[in-house]
Amino acid sequence: MKTAHDQISGRQTQLTTEQGRSGLLSTTQKRSLVIVGAGEFAKIADEYFTKDSDYHVVAFAVESTFKTAETVNDKPLVAIEDLTVLFPPDNFSVHIAITYTELNTVRERIFKKLKSLGYKFANYISSNAFVWDNVEIGENVFIFEANVVQPFCTIGDCVVLWSGNHIGHRTQIKSGVYVSSHVVISGYCQIGERCFIGVNTAFADHVTIAEDNFVAMASVVTTNMLDPDRVIKGSPATATKISAKRLMKARP
Ligand SMILES: CC(C)(COP(=O)(O)OP(=O)(O)OC[C@H]1O[C@@H](n2cnc3c(N)ncnc32)[C@H](O)[C@@H]1OP(=O)(O)O)[C@@H](O)C(=O)NCCC(=O)NCCS
Repeated sequence: MKTAHDQISGRQTQLTTEQGRSGLLSTTQKRSLVIVGAGEFAKIADEYFTKDSDYHVVAFAVESTFKTAETVNDKPLVAIEDLTVLFPPDNFSVHIAITYTELNTVRERIFKKLKSLGYKFANYISSNAFVWDNVEIGENVFIFEANVVQPFCTIGDCVVLWSGNHIGHRTQIKSGVYVSSHVVISGYCQIGERCFIGVNTAFADHVTIAEDNFVAMASVVTTNMLDPDRVIKGSPATATKISAKRLMKARP
């Protein structure tokens, strides 16, 4: 894992807010990037990488069964199966911009596949996010605007922090987690792999939740939730008997 300082420090992000990082490099100096996905998140990722990163988006890719068009945002849409030939891993980075489909397992599955083919993964950290410089950040991470990530946090691979969340000091967000918006995760929490956290949820400090949980919007999580694969909801939140994987139609 690299720290935020290795990627771009919180202080730098504040300083470059007005211009966005896109103003710092010309297109030819930027690294070439293929976005995996063709839905709304992929189109939004194109906007953010293009206008606020050191990457230049050259194409989109999806699994061949999902390839129903020739272009997305006026850029070529190719099949992942053809990626190594058309956009080889030595010359192109990738970012998988797929949301919480099948409880985050689709993003994770494609990540593992492309990693085994030798691809490097781009991270996007908004120039309008505040990420402290010692935060450890994995690969294929997308951090939208107005997120606050405090000192000593860790963010695993394939994590999405949609806009406006607070991630308190020393909290660990494990790989594959999707945090929607305006979520408050207090200090010293642990959010298990592939969890979905609904909008406006709040976690007390020192709370651990197991992997593969779906936390419904506006939940108030005050105690540990150590069973995996549950729908968690309410204030104070409780773990229901409903399977999160079943709710999200995740394939076994
Ligand atoms: C959990 C969720 C998926 C349930 O949706 P649903 O299946 O349409 O649920 P329903 O409206 O049919 O409600 C089912 C029951 O759960 C309850 N319920 C639904 N959402 C709830 C919530 N967030 N908190 C507490 N109870 C909730 C309903 O009151 C209802 O209870 P009842 O059976 O006693 O009447 C939905 O509330 C949710 O949290 N979605 C996530 C939204 C979000 O964060 N989106 C971000 C996108 S980036």
